[in-house]
Amino acid sequence: MNENLKSIEDMIRNGDLIFAVLSNIRKGAQKTYNKLDIKPVLIKGSQLYHVTYQYEKKVLHDNFEATELIDLLDEVMGNYFKQGVFYATDGDYQLLFNKKMEGKIITKPPSRFKVEQEHNRKKNYIIPDGEPCDFMTHLGLMDSDGRVFKKKYDKFRQLNKYLEFVSDSLGRLEDLDVIRIIDFGCGKAYLTFALYYYLVKLQNRNVEIIGLDLKEDVIRFCNDTASALGYDGLTFELGDIKDYETEKTVDMVVSLHACDTATDEALIKSVGWDAKIIFAVPCCQHELFKQLENPAMNPLLRYGVIKDKLATLVTDSLRASALECVGYDVQMLEFIDMEHTPKNVLIRAYKADKTEEAIMRAQKEYQLLKATFKAKPSIDRLLMMK
Ligand SMILES: C[S@@+](CC[C@H](N)C(=O)[O-])C[C@H]1O[C@@H](n2cnc3c(N)ncnc32)[C@H](O)[C@@H]1O
Repeated sequence: MNENLKSIEDMIRNGDLIFAVLSNIRKGAQKTYNKLDIKPVLIKGSQLYHVTYQYEKKVLHDNFEATELIDLLDEVMGNYFKQGVFYATDGDYQLLFNKKMEGKIITKPPSRFKVEQEHNRKKNYIIPDGEPCDFMTHLGLMDSDGRVFKKKYDKFRQLNKYLEFVSDSLGRLEDLDVIRIIDFGCGKAYLTFALYYYLVKLQNRNVEIIGLDLKEDVIRFCNDTASALGYDGLTFELGDIKDYETEKTVDMVVSLHACDTATDEALIKSVGWDAKIIFAVPCCQHELFKQLENPAMNPLLRYGVIKDKLATLVTDSLRASALECVGYDVQMLEFIDMEHTPKNVLIRAYKADKTEEAIMRAQKEYQLLKATFKAKPSIDRLLMMK
């Protein structure tokens, strides 16, 4: 490490760096990039440094840990760049190297402040990192001081993303005294507990939420957890989506990552109950894989991996289209899942007052898409209901 970089190294290790720009290429150096920008970023709870390499005609990005960033600075400062300006919490440091590679540092009072990163991070999450939250602690996602465990950050982000989607939709349930929700295929129910916490503890609403799953041990675990937390109005039942019946009104149906045609069963139940809101994140869309047929699309159907993606797209598009046919407004949104694929689709549907004409148009579209692929999807049953 160059002597003149020692204070910069300390600045980075102490987490005091706010922003840096490296520029002014040494004469005779073999030129690659023109300039480097460095800024700290929090990724999955880890402090990293986002480095932007500015070339003549392109810009590349990379993320470094503190030690890697220090190695990079050691490599380029003086040898390649003659100047680096480092904005830190306690001052602005201009590091300059002369022809003989002698460096000096000019220090000025701080002109940038660190609040932004911290502020944005907290502002962006409905359940923030750093504030104790009972179900998160109970389920082992954060410690008792509210710090989210590093290994659980994916779940933490997914859960907050989900709540953002819920918060967007809440206006549609405004006039209800009690919101009745069924969560089909709730699994260990992190997202169900998050939904309860958000509606009851953060929004002060009365709810009756039922989580349904096929697995007995999971249901037992979830009911024990709900009792331990004192979450009245949240219960879990053992059962299959297709057999689930209720006499009560159902305002919202959630079905997140229930496999294959379980999503169709959830959508069919939701429409049967006239649910105002449906949230479905399908997964493992196997049903159409064996059915798809269309000679004009052979290149899309010949290769398993491509056909699989196409089958997924056609399945979910038919689901969305079928919901349009029975009077729902549908949005397809990108959701985060960790277990299957890095990203997947949330079908968000709202019960709407559609014109006869709009329904007819949707039905034509649905039939045409189905015919295009000679598909016979389970979601067909939805159209037979109305
Ligand atoms: C991948 S987990 C998803 C759990 C949770 N919804 C989430 O997104 O984190 C899928 C769950 O759906 C349940 N499931 C699948 N098919 C079902 C069905 N027909 N009826 C009830 N539960 C079902 C499974 O038992 C499993 O626990």
